[in-house]
Amino acid sequence: MAFTQAFNRSIKIAPSILSADFANFGAECQAIEAQGCDWVHVDVMDGHFVPNITFGPATCAAIRPHIKGVMDVHLMIAPVDPYIDAFATAGADVITAHLEAGPHIHRTLQAIRGAGAKAGLAINPGTGLDDVKHLLDMVDLVCIMTVNPGFGGQKFIHSQVEKVRDLRAMIGDRPVHIEIDGGVTVETAPLVAAAGADVLVAGSAVFKGGSVSNPAPYGENIRAIRAAAEAACA
Ligand code: DX5
Ligand code: ZN
Repeated sequence: MAFTQAFNRSIKIAPSILSADFANFGAECQAIEAQGCDWVHVDVMDGHFVPNITFGPATCAAIRPHIKGVMDVHLMIAPVDPYIDAFATAGADVITAHLEAGPHIHRTLQAIRGAGAKAGLAINPGTGLDDVKHLLDMVDLVCIMTVNPGFGGQKFIHSQVEKVRDLRAMIGDRPVHIEIDGGVTVETAPLVAAAGADVLVAGSAVFKGGSVSNPAPYGENIRAIRAAAEAACA
């Protein structure tokens, strides 16, 4: 359980390994941590909730020993409940379920915390905040999707920035992270950081230009995104 540090709203960069070399996940996780990332974002897709298939608990368990920090597992699956224990056992620090994944999100969030993980709630671009406000005392993180989930490398949906601002106001001084996922770059990171987000997921923007044998570009990309976001909060 890597969540030893006290809650804070400093900018955290969470590269999504969806853009990493699938044949080399362990080394890729070590490389992005060595290059300065804060969390490792793991996109689980079931080909049902989203039109793509990635990996499951076994892959999470296999990469866990290669991640010293926070393993942030984003479940784009439906149903969620039957798999929560498997992802918690695999070593997920944060387990995020989508509000749209089923009718019993309240029970799902209870089960995630019951399994010993931090509970995250994700909402798609088409979903408003009305249903989120009643769940804010049950979550440790709210993830605002800034792309329609299922693929990396998509364009950032600017209409979601206002939703970030509204969510930040709703959260008040609760210890709840605001995570942004999809299309985060040096250009878009300042927009969401200024609106109140603190966890920035970035796949293609972090992994571009680098590799396990040449990880320096990973570090340059991470530092550039962090600097742009922090400057917007200053
Ligand atoms: C999309 C995933 C994202 C994605 C982000 O459904 O949830 O985490 O990997 O990739 P980029 O940063 O390339 O948009
Ligand atoms: Zn994701």
